[in-house]
Amino acid sequence: MMYSRIAGTGSYLPARVVTNFDLAKTMDTSDEWIRERTGIVQRHIAAEGETTVDLAEHAARRAIEAAGIDPAEIDLIAFGTTTPDQVFPNCGVLLQDRLGLRGCPAMGLEAACTGFIYALSIADKFIRLGDAKCALVVGAETLSRICDWTDRGTAILFGDGAGAVVLKPDSEAGIISTHLHADSTYKDLLYCPAGVSKGIGRPGDPAMHIKMSGNETFKVAVNTLGRIVDETLAANSLDKSAIDWLVPHQANIRIIQATARKLDMPMERVIVTVDTHGNTSAASVPLALDAGVRSGRIKRGEMLLLEAFGGGFTWGSALLRY
Ligand code: COA
Repeated sequence: MMYSRIAGTGSYLPARVVTNFDLAKTMDTSDEWIRERTGIVQRHIAAEGETTVDLAEHAARRAIEAAGIDPAEIDLIAFGTTTPDQVFPNCGVLLQDRLGLRGCPAMGLEAACTGFIYALSIADKFIRLGDAKCALVVGAETLSRICDWTDRGTAILFGDGAGAVVLKPDSEAGIISTHLHADSTYKDLLYCPAGVSKGIGRPGDPAMHIKMSGNETFKVAVNTLGRIVDETLAANSLDKSAIDWLVPHQANIRIIQATARKLDMPMERVIVTVDTHGNTSAASVPLALDAGVRSGRIKRGEMLLLEAFGGGFTWGSALLRY
């Protein structure tokens, strides 16, 4: 039996920090309201001209360094994003170029906030089948570019960032199982209508902005993430006590707390970074994972449950021994 194992993690947040107090200067909101409802304190926003692939390159180089590999070893790039630099080539190919690589397959995967889990699941399968020996898996976003900065219902939630992992084959444990889902019933609850085929809006065009029914999204997210926790444990005949760390999608502290309760996990065993960077969509799980690893909390051999939920709705999980 061959597993894929996380050999190294990396992440990157753009330099500019926008606090809740900063937002309260331009829209009818307050630090207190945002903290209470979401747990978010600040978010990082990409500089003008700084793109998703720029952020991803920093995160990828850090993951490569942490894994102790030569970039030339990478033979697969799977890049989750909803905010690609350009229509094509996909962000995986653009990142391949930055890393000076040629020839290996490089793909972009679009599954909103679940993009990294989708990319991780696909890369895991390549490695298990022996089709890749060293995969670079990335989640990166510049969501600030599709936020309506006059809409307090959405703009307060999102931020920019990137995270990455290097996966290598391992005969012992690594990724134990991944679980992916989508349900189009909910496609109108969280979406961004602009697109190549339907017509890309001009900057400022409302079609360019994230639309969300916050309340409904919240409820479906809590229920769905509860179900995927059950599904993941049941698929592996595991009790919830087997999980050492929950590494959740960082959308809202109240959604994270609900999932932790479902697992009977104290919040000390949950990696929380939503306060520092808000919802960075596909970047959020690898950002949290990297924070957990670099702070020394997550240790080799521990059991991790990664989960994410996003527009579509899409959702997914990964159970792994780090
Ligand atoms: N500051 C101050 N007041 C705000 C506000 C803001 N940023 N945003 C909304 N409000 C107001 C509303 O206008 C409403 O006022 P009213 O009662 O006078 O009409 C009131 O606060 C309550 O709004 P509501 O939308 O019911 O708040 P909520 O408790 O559902 O919290 C969210 C809003 C967006 C924080 C919450 O629904 C949420 O987090 N949803 C999930 C979003 C998410 O995670 N999406 C990504 C999934 S990947």
